[in-house]
Amino acid sequence: MKKEKTSRKGFFISLEGPDGAGKTSVLEKILPSLRAFTSGEVITTREPGGVAIAEKIRDVILDVEHTAMDDKTELLLYIAARRQHLVEKILPQLAKGNLVLVDRFIDSSVAYQGYGRGLDTQAIVWLNDFATDGLQPDLTLYFDVASEVGLSRIAQNKDREINRLDLEKLEMHQKVRQGYLALAKENPDRIVTIDASQPLDKVVADTLAVLEKALFAEEIR
Ligand SMILES: Nc1ncnc2c1ncn2[C@@H]1O[C@H](COP(=O)(O)OP(=O)(O)OP(=O)(O)O)[C@@H](O)[C@H]1O
Ligand SMILES: [Mg+2]
Repeated sequence: MKKEKTSRKGFFISLEGPDGAGKTSVLEKILPSLRAFTSGEVITTREPGGVAIAEKIRDVILDVEHTAMDDKTELLLYIAARRQHLVEKILPQLAKGNLVLVDRFIDSSVAYQGYGRGLDTQAIVWLNDFATDGLQPDLTLYFDVASEVGLSRIAQNKDREINRLDLEKLEMHQKVRQGYLALAKENPDRIVTIDASQPLDKVVADTLAVLEKALFAEEIR
């Protein structure tokens, strides 16, 4: 989990996991505690979106009427949104030495468009590298939960709007989870797996324990 030596300051964390794992809920709950962990500002943001241009791309990706969307079109739209968000928001905040937490990043492309949709994962990695100039998060929290559990949580949440990707079959979601598990295995120094099947308070406590340890090791604290 040790940060590679770069000229960049700040600390960059991504939250990953299948739909309904609890990423957004956890991010909201840990925010007050995180502010106590670091002297800099804490910036939270999300993908796809986070800045006006990328939010517009998000609307195109998630529109339930866009059933004709080609898998490669979808991949490229995600990557375009990622590039804009990175340049306009993430990099400037890191340059200021701030702690940046993003709800989804590159691993989502590999898990969803690679494992889920079956596109060439090597091409996905290359395209993402091109778009991010090789930037990876310093730390990735992977919230692991069985697909059935994640999907049933979403189904129970009446406030959340159902988007195009929620309508995908269970099988696709299971492939996505397999993708995440493979990524976690391949990147043990960057990705920490959190058991997201537990009650939310326990997931939040586990997350804070991982973050406290990681940030303590960094000068950002
Ligand atoms: N540990 C948990 N136990 C039970 N319910 C949970 C837990 N975590 C989150 N939830 C509930 O599950 C639903 C989905 O959570 P949330 O939106 O945070 O997931 P997410 O990972 O952000 O999903 P998405 O990828 O679709 O944005 C919400 O209704 C939330 O209240
Ligand atoms: Mg979410």
